[in-house]
Amino acid sequence: MNKVLITGACGYLGARLCKYLAKDGYRVTAFDSYDPSAHSQWVSLMDEVVVGDIRDESTISDLADRNFDVVVHLISLDHHKSESSPNIVSSINVMPTWNLLNKFTQNGLGKFIYFSTIHVYGKLPRETINEDYPSNPINAYGLTHLLSENICNYYNNKTNTECINVRLSNSYGSPVFKENNCWWLVINDLCKTAIEKNEIRLQSDGSPQRDFIHGDDVAVAIEVLIKSKNNNGNGTVTLCHSGTSDLKTYTRQADILIVALGVPKMITRSFIKKGAVIVDVGIHRLPNNSEKGYEIVGDVDQQSVEGKASAITPVPGGVGPMTIAMLVENTVEAAEIQSH
Ligand SMILES: NC(=O)c1ccc[n+]([C@@H]2O[C@H](COP(=O)([O-])OP(=O)(O)OC[C@H]3O[C@@H](n4cnc5c(N)ncnc54)[C@H](O)[C@@H]3O)[C@@H](O)[C@H]2O)c1
Repeated sequence: MNKVLITGACGYLGARLCKYLAKDGYRVTAFDSYDPSAHSQWVSLMDEVVVGDIRDESTISDLADRNFDVVVHLISLDHHKSESSPNIVSSINVMPTWNLLNKFTQNGLGKFIYFSTIHVYGKLPRETINEDYPSNPINAYGLTHLLSENICNYYNNKTNTECINVRLSNSYGSPVFKENNCWWLVINDLCKTAIEKNEIRLQSDGSPQRDFIHGDDVAVAIEVLIKSKNNNGNGTVTLCHSGTSDLKTYTRQADILIVALGVPKMITRSFIKKGAVIVDVGIHRLPNNSEKGYEIVGDVDQQSVEGKASAITPVPGGVGPMTIAMLVENTVEAAEIQSH
């Protein structure tokens, strides 16, 4: 599940999602009518960038022939533009969903993730609701997203492609592209007016309650959906410690064993499952008779597990350099965000 097509890739959420998935090792093809060539850093992360109009059926056929594992579909007019002519609005908000699913399901697509909206519910009560709450859209934006959701549900039942609808509420966060259509979103608007006008002014009487989600958390959630219910997903995480009674019962079941016990060489051959992948986080200095007078060891007895584990991180030189690399990556990313 690593070849991903993102439609609406240059939009506010799409651009961030593309960047997040590409940095996480996915092969991302970005599709949008906007040409992002001015954003060379972002473009360089993509497997491919395709500029086109989603209303064009031949474009959809070309894309379907490229055998993606996952499609994430984020194209829609915003809630202001969705109130124009039904023909135009449905040609962007609805028909492409149908055309995409019609073509891609014939080519064995694994997963289709559709970005819908909380607007499908219509008028919301003041209490917390769940997905069983009835959908009664009160604007064309909600209506067209509900129509697309139904198309997804239809293909989910009829084909082997898993189709997932995500009903998003209010996202926030800095845009990846300055020109992204995002400044009307509440938190972004408050930040912008705070900087530009030195004031924060609510457009309401302050009584409405909303929930907010950062664009990065949206990307994390989409990755969870991409990974779920396939061979690489559905991992069961079990947490143990050095005092867990009969620790071996658990460690012997683990396909991936992450060890951070703080006890030198505690995990030996009898603790692990054949073929397990081991990440040894421990690092200790044990006195010995060598010239240096000590050896560096982890929490796993590396010699003992040799030949039974399929892979193990070395100590030293395993988790440490990776931690440093991630710190550097996060620092660079923070600097990039600040310079925007
Ligand atoms: N941003 C939010 O907080 C939010 C909340 C709820 C739902 N959603 C939904 O999530 C999805 C993405 O939202 P967003 O904020 O990133 O929207 P956006 O408007 O920033 O992005 C949409 C992208 O689609 C592209 N596009 C439009 N028409 C096209 C066409 N005919 N062919 C090819 N590309 C076309 C645009 O160029 C744009 O880059 C939308 O479906 C939106 O309704 C967003």
